[in-house]
Amino acid sequence: MSQLAMLDKYTVCFREGSGADTFVFCVENEQRNQFVVKIISHKLPQDQHAFRLGQLNNELNILQEESFPGTVKVYDVCPGECTQTGQETKIVHYLLMEKIDGGDLENITSLFGQTKIQENTLHYLCQKVLHIFTEIHQRGYVHLDIKPDNIMVDLTGEVKVIDFGLAKKIDQSASQVGVFGTIPQIAPEMYSDTCYNPQKADVFSLGVLLFRILFQCVPWRDSKENDPNFANFKTKNELFWQTFSHKVGQTIKPEIKGFFNNVLGCDADAREPLNNWTTKFTWLQKVVDEEKARAEIGSMAQLVSMMKMNARQKGLFEVSGSF
Ligand SMILES: Nc1ncnc2c1ncn2[C@@H]1O[C@H](COP(=O)(O)OP(=O)(O)OP(=O)(O)O)[C@@H](O)[C@H]1O
Ligand SMILES: [Mg+2]
Repeated sequence: MSQLAMLDKYTVCFREGSGADTFVFCVENEQRNQFVVKIISHKLPQDQHAFRLGQLNNELNILQEESFPGTVKVYDVCPGECTQTGQETKIVHYLLMEKIDGGDLENITSLFGQTKIQENTLHYLCQKVLHIFTEIHQRGYVHLDIKPDNIMVDLTGEVKVIDFGLAKKIDQSASQVGVFGTIPQIAPEMYSDTCYNPQKADVFSLGVLLFRILFQCVPWRDSKENDPNFANFKTKNELFWQTFSHKVGQTIKPEIKGFFNNVLGCDADAREPLNNWTTKFTWLQKVVDEEKARAEIGSMAQLVSMMKMNARQKGLFEVSGSF
């Protein structure tokens, strides 16, 4: 039996989301329990096939073998089923995962502008994501695509990291080649250096994520010299903060500036590793009221969930195609 035929046990309910080469569907089993299926489909020339297959298997292996706290649960996987058409190979993978009811941080932060979110909640989110990624790094992995859309929150305010499509296990001397991730989170050395430390690249991306949570805006469009905000941050740092402070209409505390100057700095070696952040940066030690924060996040997740349902009812998220 084809491994993909295992999906026959499930009924597709609706499309939950999508990515670059991905569709995520909500499915239901006979007992009416809901899951999501992430289907990754690629058409590749034969010479790139083996490389991409290895890359795709990463997510399957990592999520199946490692059960990191604060990450999505994976129940079943189907590693690369290939069909040959002429010079091209089509590879289809799927992951059957727990369905996280709520929304991703991109959805949630877009609501921030409309409601005044409590500082307690923002700090809770920062501490929570830091905790999850610290554990991932401590176990010797890197995520390489840390961004708001890859962090989900459910109706109870629980935070969960998804999308290990670029993640990998590294060893002490590991260095990485190539540009990975999504702007504006991409570390500058990915563009400029032939090889770099992938953990420090994650440190940069997590720094941008925390910036986006705290201020609900991006620090720059891209971490390249020709981006005026990034150029200012790098070479006229005080001016960057003055302009930014004016833009958001608030005074930025020196300890917050110091934190971002370190973790978003161009000197990757000088960036503090994640397991040092809480001891080095006191703003991350702030005692938060977890119950209150989770209640606020949960109600925003509820709102996002309702907005998604409305969009589906209007046909904006139709199930398209078949497995
Ligand atoms: N377990 C889940 N429960 C609910 N929704 C999910 C789940 N996994 C993914 N999604 C939704 O589907 C979207 C795409 O999933 P995912 O990020 O894993 O795919 P991707 O192709 O790797 O994305 P990208 O290429 O944009 O990084 C997510 O942003 C999220 O909205
Ligand atoms: Mg994603």
